[in-house]
Amino acid sequence: MLRIDGQTKLTGIIGYPLRYTLSPVLHNAAFQHLSLNWCYVPLPVERPFLHQALEGIKALNFVGINVTMPYKEEVIPFLDEITSYARIVGAVNTIHVKGHRLIGYNTDGRGFLASLQKDAKFDPEGKNILIVGAGGAARSIAVSLALAGAGYIAIVNRTLRRAHSLGQLLQENFPSCEVEAMDFEADLSYVFLKAEVVINATPVGMGPRSGELPFPVELLKPKHLVCDLIYKPRETLLLKLAKEKGARTLGGLGMLLHQGAAAFEIWTNLEPPIAVMRKALEEALEEDRHGEG
Ligand SMILES: NC(=O)c1ccc[n+]([C@@H]2O[C@H](COP(=O)([O-])OP(=O)(O)OC[C@H]3O[C@@H](n4cnc5c(N)ncnc54)[C@H](OP(=O)(O)O)[C@@H]3O)[C@@H](O)[C@H]2O)c1
Repeated sequence: MLRIDGQTKLTGIIGYPLRYTLSPVLHNAAFQHLSLNWCYVPLPVERPFLHQALEGIKALNFVGINVTMPYKEEVIPFLDEITSYARIVGAVNTIHVKGHRLIGYNTDGRGFLASLQKDAKFDPEGKNILIVGAGGAARSIAVSLALAGAGYIAIVNRTLRRAHSLGQLLQENFPSCEVEAMDFEADLSYVFLKAEVVINATPVGMGPRSGELPFPVELLKPKHLVCDLIYKPRETLLLKLAKEKGARTLGGLGMLLHQGAAAFEIWTNLEPPIAVMRKALEEALEEDRHGEG
């Protein structure tokens, strides 16, 4: 059990309504494993109090916090400094309080990249990547993949305007990466043929949409590595059908794990106990599955 006392260092997560988050499980397991007198708490904050909450984080001597929906973009004006990567992505998911200054980071893309490289043993340098979706998660992984030297990135999104805006962001910041942006009306067979990795960055496949597919699976080939950012369920319908087609697959749990591990490292300056954090996440997801029975 965690022991809370006068020396306990505080971390947590700000979002709203924050009914479901696995971050406390992930971080508290790591603190306990390393016998750190640290604690991670959920902090649901309503929009009118966002600025006050961030000031409170400083006043209450928190070491840092994570930021989740819907505030990843809205916190930026209240921060003293943000990393250049977070500025390009336009979103912050981790804040470090350093000498009463709030420093913003984004570890989502780094988390995806770590999972791609460590879990799927795939190096994106020079590779052709297809991302379905153009929201916040798509933006952070697209920027990380471009930074890692991807040769070609295609964005396919329901709303063409948003696909174009992400495409433009990539072109402006990474001129050596070839970029295409389209909606589902375009001829997708060509981009699927060109891609080595196909990533679902939409919520289609989770919760009430767990029986739906983000794109027609007929487009998948055995040569593809198919990634789904969704981690609940662990294996989405997309991944199940992709496997049946002979493709390799990667679920969203690794991204969740590694983005959390990166935040842990920023706050503690210690090597995150990855295996312990992964086990805690897997157990929590398994418990939830039985709970929902
Ligand atoms: N594993 C992890 O650590 C991790 C981290 C972050 C996010 N995620 C997951 O990534 C997914 C996207 O999150 P986000 O933060 O990027 O969300 P978001 O900013 O709301 O973006 C959602 C994207 O999905 C598209 N979309 C939504 N509903 C759709 C539908 N019915 N059909 C087709 N496209 C649809 C949207 O298209 P429009 O532009 O047309 O609206 C948009 O491109 C979620 O499932 C989230 O759980 C996982």
